[in-house]
Amino acid sequence: MRKTVQDLQSMKANKEPIVALTAYDFQTASIIDSSCDFILVGDSLGNVFQGEETTLGVTVEDMVYHGASVSKGVSNAHLCIDMPFMSYQASTEEALKNAGHIIKATKAQSVKMEISFDSLITIQKLANAGIPVVAHVGLCPQSFNIYGGYKKQGKNKSDQDYILSLSKEAEQHGASLIVIEGVPENLASKITKMLNIPTIGIGAGKKCDGQILVTEDMLGITPPPYPSFVKNYSNMRALIKKSANAYRNEVKKNKFP
Ligand code: KIV
Repeated sequence: MRKTVQDLQSMKANKEPIVALTAYDFQTASIIDSSCDFILVGDSLGNVFQGEETTLGVTVEDMVYHGASVSKGVSNAHLCIDMPFMSYQASTEEALKNAGHIIKATKAQSVKMEISFDSLITIQKLANAGIPVVAHVGLCPQSFNIYGGYKKQGKNKSDQDYILSLSKEAEQHGASLIVIEGVPENLASKITKMLNIPTIGIGAGKKCDGQILVTEDMLGITPPPYPSFVKNYSNMRALIKKSANAYRNEVKKNKFP
């Protein structure tokens, strides 16, 4: 059975680290499912799957298409789907409509939103409507044009206070989990200690309740350079290239089939 938000919250209480990865397709999801507690269909599919510089062009229908494919491969992990840029910011009504469509069409268990103080009422309404919300704080890739690139957040005291109080408010408005991206370890640690709900970090040090990586980064499928926090557990790029070349050579030399 898939892990529920309550299972993930119990893992925090029992100090068991939460293992999280992204997936955009059925095959990958079915391979990583038993290794994961949490699988995210991230809007990072804009970068990784679609080859775009940012996530800003990703649509609700992209998330539904990839989410429905991933969903068929997930029977152990909790399945969460990202709300793409401008699918939840304009109004709470639009957020409810889009989140409801994503949950109905994909059978995912929660949605993730990159939040600001403006999002708090939406978190509350979604939770009251029965949709668990994962609140993403710190470096929010959908704010690429505000930052002028992908830049670490929480570098000074006022930014840190902002992220801390935003995280606290998210929990108070009914968020089920927090994803913390691209902030100093001491800030992620403070948030993790302050909240009852679990935190999952990426580029936020080792003090969160869990860790998430983009699967294609972890496998070495995306091309280097990688962000400094990424660890390659394989070099699948080289392996795929080698296999494609071996196939090419055999076809060219009439050795295959
Ligand atoms: O879109 C994504 O994949 C994410 C994770 C990297 C946290 O937001």
